[in-house]
Amino acid sequence: MFTPNTLTNQTILITGGGSGLGLSMAKMFASLGADIAICGRTEEKLKEAVDVIRKEGEEADLKTDVRYYVVDVREYNRVRDMIESIVKDFGSMEGLVNNAAGNFLSASEDLSPGGFKAVVDIVLHGSFNCTHTFGNYLIDNKKKGNILNIVTTYAEGTGSAFVLPSACGKAGVLAMTRSLAYEWATYGIRLNAIAPGPFPTEGAWTQLLPTKKAEKKFLEKIPMGRYGKHEELASLAAFMMSDMAEYITGECVTIDGGEKLAAGQFNFIDSLMSRGKLKKVFRMMRGKG
Ligand code: HXC
Repeated sequence: MFTPNTLTNQTILITGGGSGLGLSMAKMFASLGADIAICGRTEEKLKEAVDVIRKEGEEADLKTDVRYYVVDVREYNRVRDMIESIVKDFGSMEGLVNNAAGNFLSASEDLSPGGFKAVVDIVLHGSFNCTHTFGNYLIDNKKKGNILNIVTTYAEGTGSAFVLPSACGKAGVLAMTRSLAYEWATYGIRLNAIAPGPFPTEGAWTQLLPTKKAEKKFLEKIPMGRYGKHEELASLAAFMMSDMAEYITGECVTIDGGEKLAAGQFNFIDSLMSRGKLKKVFRMMRGKG
C-alpha cells in the first residue's frame, strides 16, 4: 500500500521519539520518505535513536534528514523555540505526532498533587504546547499541516482505575483533537488520534505491569490473543499522516486486537469452556443436543 514516496515532502516531529512506539513511528516515516525530528528529555537516548534511523536510511539508500532536540514538552517556551529551530534546520515543518507520555500505577487516594500534575503536564499540557506552537506556525505561514495524537483506549468511554492522571490527560487530548479538528479545518490543518491497546514497550511495561501474573491477565483480555506489533501501529500512523487520509479529521482510530470490546454483555461465555463444548451446550439449549 505504501511507496517509498508516501511521506516525501513532509518534515514530521515525533515527541518522545527516542524510544518505544515513538521510535517505531519515526523509523517507519523515514522509510516512507519523511524528514524526521524527534524530541525528548534524555540526549543520550535521542542521539542513539537518530543514529539508528540514519543507519537504516543509508542502508535503504534514502535521503532523509533526521535530527534530535532535547526538550521537555512541558515547557512552552522551549517547545516554541524547538519549532522555530526545526523550521530553520529543515526549511519547513508539515507534521506533528504528540506521542510523549508519562504514566504510573497508583491507588488514586495515594496520589500526591505533584504526581497528578507531572503526568497531566506531560500528556495534556505537552500536547497543547506542541499543537499550539505548531498550529500558529502553520496558520501564520498559510501552510497545511497534520497533527496526530497518540491517546489510549481508556481515554474515552471507560477511563481506567489506577492510572487516573493518565486517563484524565488522555481524555483531554482527545477533546483537544476533536475541538481543533473543527476549528482549524478552515486552515487546512487535520487533527486525528490513535488509541493503541497493548503494545509492549520498555517504558510502559516497567511502569504498568507489576508482576508476571498481571502480564498474563493482561494478555487474556485481548480477544486476538496477542499484543500489537510496533509495525502495525506505525503503519496506521503513516496512513493517518499521508495524503491518503486527506479527508479524515477529528477521528480516533482504535488499534487493540479487540481489547476494548470486552464489555459486551455475553462475551464472558467464551471463557466458561472450550468453543467446541460451548457449541454443544448451545445445541442442547435449542433442544437439538
Ligand atoms: C506515585 C509517583 C510515581 C509513582 C513519580 N511520582 N512516580 N507517584 N507513584 N510510581 C510522583 C513523584 O513523587 C512526584 O510527586 C511527581 O510524581 C513527579 O515525579 P518526578 O520523578 O520528579 O517527575 P518526572 O521526572 O517529571 O517524571 C514524570 C513521571 C515518570 C511521569 C512521573 O514516570 C516519567 O517520566 N515517565 C516517562 C515514561 C513513562 O511513563 N512511560 C510510560 C508511558 S505509557 P511529588 O508530589 O513528590 O512532587 C502510557 C500509555 C498507557 O502512557 C497505555 C498502556 C497500555
